[in-house]
Amino acid sequence: MIPVEVGDPTDPRLADYARLTDVGHRVRREPAAGVFIAEGATVLERALDAGFTPRSLLLAPNRVEPAAALAARVAAAGAPVFVAGPDVLERLTGYHVHRGLLAAMDRRPLPTIAEVLAGARRVAVLEDITDHTNVGAAMRSAAAFGVDAVLVTPSCADPLYRRAIRTSMGACFTVPWTRLERWPEDIALLHDAGFVTAALTLGERAVPLDEFVARRPAAVALVLGSEGDGLRASTIAAAAVEVTIPMAGGIDSLNVAAAAAVAFYATR
Ligand SMILES: C[S@@+](CC[C@H](N)C(=O)[O-])C[C@H]1O[C@@H](n2cnc3c(N)ncnc32)[C@H](O)[C@@H]1O
Repeated sequence: MIPVEVGDPTDPRLADYARLTDVGHRVRREPAAGVFIAEGATVLERALDAGFTPRSLLLAPNRVEPAAALAARVAAAGAPVFVAGPDVLERLTGYHVHRGLLAAMDRRPLPTIAEVLAGARRVAVLEDITDHTNVGAAMRSAAAFGVDAVLVTPSCADPLYRRAIRTSMGACFTVPWTRLERWPEDIALLHDAGFVTAALTLGERAVPLDEFVARRPAAVALVLGSEGDGLRASTIAAAAVEVTIPMAGGIDSLNVAAAAAVAFYATR
């Protein structure tokens, strides 16, 4: 398989890779165009293993040989493989592509909420998280600690954004997840499905995490809030219980991805 050489960063065949550092542009364009970007060999391999369909592969010249097997998989799926020099890659994407491998992949329709909740006993809700690395890290912990599904609120950052995927090490491809349509109204769907909704907060009325775990709820939804303000007051009011991770050392709160990891581990 011989990659097609491209020397012009404005070549329309590379449009999926344009302005990768322009977050505002990418978060609008990618879901609308039904595309996401897999960066690096490991992430691409996991995306292919998870059954995602490639649209194209773009390699730096020094990645053509090491990525030959992956390129063959992409070509076998009917997608073109391009090679472009470092200058072209940098002008196209807006950054120095040091991994030298980018793949444009087709998104799949998200499952329905009912589908991801079916058979689940432990789920997480990520409310309005803005930082893609936090979303990716939470997804990685969800996979590591056996959380059955993740629900993201309408304003939460995209789990299939390049940086979220990279931080998750591909867990965004394997953990069942979907986007809620109305929040916090959709918390009623969790209650109807039998979940005890636990709002993770720093509130004084909150039950310590160990105490909550000792109650052994049959099905639990762990609801985590945004980096700045934490959970909305309306979400806390609608949740069945407030749960806190006791802090020491004068630290008032954990980063949301760290809090997710602790809560996922404790409730495993
Ligand atoms: C950085 S914190 C937000 C802090 C915010 N000032 C607040 O009052 O919630 C982001 C999210 O992580 C979770 N979190 C962080 N530390 C926590 C703790 N000690 N106990 C429970 N949840 C915590 C909460 O869900 C919180 O909304």
